Amino acid sequence: MEDTKCRQHHALAVPLPWQGHINPLMRLCKRLAAEHAFTITFLDIHLHHEEAAAAESSPAAHQEPSPAPAAAAHDVEFSPPDPAQKLDIRRARLSLYLPPPSSSAAMLEGLFEGVQTLAPQIEQLLLRLQQQHPPITCLISDLFVTAATQHLADKLQLPRVALIPCSHSIILHFHHLLEGGFSLEEVMKVSIQRELLRENVFKEGLQGLPTLKVDDLMENFGEDFFMYTFTCQALQETKNKAHAFVVNSFEEIEGNALKVNMKAPLYAVGPLVEPLEKEASTSLLEEDDACLLWLDQQPCSSVLFISFGSFASISLAQFEELVVGLLSSRQRFLWVFRPNLINDTVFTTFPEQLLSESCGRGYVVSWAPQVKVLSHCSIHGFLTHCGWNSTLEAISKGIPMICFPYFVDQFMDAKLIVEEWKVGLRLRKSKESGLVDREEVERAI
Ligand code: UDX
Repeated sequence: MEDTKCRQHHALAVPLPWQGHINPLMRLCKRLAAEHAFTITFLDIHLHHEEAAAAESSPAAHQEPSPAPAAAAHDVEFSPPDPAQKLDIRRARLSLYLPPPSSSAAMLEGLFEGVQTLAPQIEQLLLRLQQQHPPITCLISDLFVTAATQHLADKLQLPRVALIPCSHSIILHFHHLLEGGFSLEEVMKVSIQRELLRENVFKEGLQGLPTLKVDDLMENFGEDFFMYTFTCQALQETKNKAHAFVVNSFEEIEGNALKVNMKAPLYAVGPLVEPLEKEASTSLLEEDDACLLWLDQQPCSSVLFISFGSFASISLAQFEELVVGLLSSRQRFLWVFRPNLINDTVFTTFPEQLLSESCGRGYVVSWAPQVKVLSHCSIHGFLTHCGWNSTLEAISKGIPMICFPYFVDQFMDAKLIVEEWKVGLRLRKSKESGLVDREEVERAI
């Protein structure tokens, strides 16, 4: 990095350590480094679940209560920029120890809360970066890492920019409710929001947003899902204190929403999807590139890509409906089958017998190079959980979607895809079974 002397900006980037949050932040950092000569220190937060479990079950752990092995400041490991990337993106690495989760929702809650406990380590890191060349000038952190970072930015008088890694529309929905005189309880309880919709309290619609119907609101995870509280708290704090929001979106898809004033300035910097030649993996899991060779052998525009992102899961009964509908459609498919895709079952790989019933029309991987897959000429459709990154990656590559939203923001994303942009259709659950049944799957495909 021969020209560091002329650089002025040095940002510390703090992601929520979850795939759908790391990807957009890293892509934003690459743009800042490439187009605006920023020096970036990107914080890699390394999660340890097993270690904590082992520590708990070890005899020593029972003798005296040991403090959580959170990383100390001197545990920050630095690595220099990757010369192959030709960008001044340095890496700092911290460990986060989390107790073994009892369920996937608990795992997520542990992650969201655990990351906030890293504030002392992040503060030490910021102090060290003040001594580096160029010294740190700002903090860019995920909206959901507000509790760990906003007060540090205030204390050290650094501007903090908060990245909204999801659609702006869902954040604006919460913003309107919080500003519109509804209590936090009303905002956070889906049943109360449903009641308000039934009573037509939102009948005029909320500024900048499509008019919601009762079943546009999220389901799954019940009433007190911590994410609603988390989102509202992070949003309040950020609106009042952050220097600016940056949102992974753009005028043509959320123009009306982006116009609404949210107190702090808002910059739409999306779509944060790299052109293929610049796409360097930020995957936490190993990508199986062999699927690209399989795609090479398929006719153009013939394959349905099926992927539910890094967290969403389905029941065994739902899986069976999906598979039967898919096989009946006789559609070629590439399916990302993560080991934890199916709830409450030990079966972690796609059943061989079902795959053989596809007669060579199907290919399964546990993790794919998704952007490369969506760019492949054989891909013609995407059955997706409507995570915001997947949504933007699909529209950037011109791939229509079959929407199977799983939680929180994904219901709003599905609404935008289907009703506003008209580039997809939504799978609907049967009222009797509560599942998307096989006929619906086959019809949609
Ligand atoms: C989460 C939320 O669910 C999402 O709604 C929110 O907007 C961001 O954080 P996730 O569920 O993982 O993310 O979905 P998504 O936003 O689609 O992000 C997944 C990322 O993993 C995408 O960038 C995708 O390209 C990548 N991916 C997914 C792979 O690289 N390989 C795969 O096999 C599957």
